[in-house]
Amino acid sequence: MRIDIITVLPELMRSPFEGSIMKRAIQKELVEVHFHNLRDYSTNKHKNVDDYQFGGGAGMVMSVEPIDLCISKLKNERKYDEIIYMTPDGETLHQKMANSLSLLGNIIILCGHYKGVDQRVRDLHITKEISIGDYVLSGGEIGAIVFCDAIIRLIPGVLSDETSALTDSFQDNLLSHPIYTRPANYKGLSVPDILLSGNFPEIEKWREQKAYEHTKTRRPDLLEE
Ligand code: ADE
Repeated sequence: MRIDIITVLPELMRSPFEGSIMKRAIQKELVEVHFHNLRDYSTNKHKNVDDYQFGGGAGMVMSVEPIDLCISKLKNERKYDEIIYMTPDGETLHQKMANSLSLLGNIIILCGHYKGVDQRVRDLHITKEISIGDYVLSGGEIGAIVFCDAIIRLIPGVLSDETSALTDSFQDNLLSHPIYTRPANYKGLSVPDILLSGNFPEIEKWREQKAYEHTKTRRPDLLEE
């Protein structure tokens, strides 16, 4: 997979890709991540990428030209499966979406700022709009990092068996069951006997039951889906 990220804050975005699972995926050459500084595509001497809103109103709008220049250049170089715009009015990210988007080849992610982008960017180029939740961030960068983490860890070969994504919360519409590690007893709180029994079919049943109970209490909506 190749991810091209268009942002006014490339430096802010780099460090999450330089550690942990995302770094490992890049080192294993399972994903390439490229940052593009939108200001490099500004055609005015102040390197502005935003302007006042037609019709009046508070807040600046990201201009169509620099974004169009950047996306058009990338599109001339290769074919993209999706051109994604991070925005609070996009489709809310969920695990099934992450599963299917982790299978894509090349994608562009555009990070919005200020009031958002000129509508013509959306009309010209954007094929998918994603929100990471019903709240407004000051820019799309953190949303893009969240989205990249969610999809990159699902690319086959990124996670080792022991960190497999198959048992994560939300896979199969269930939250995760409780988990424990040593010591078996801590401040009088002991690990359920079943987990120490070595009876793996029974352990599996216990885990399924706990995952179901946990989901029923916290997220009954997932069981209705
Ligand atoms: N940009 C601002 N708020 C956002 C959100 N909730 N999700 C994605 N991008 C955003």
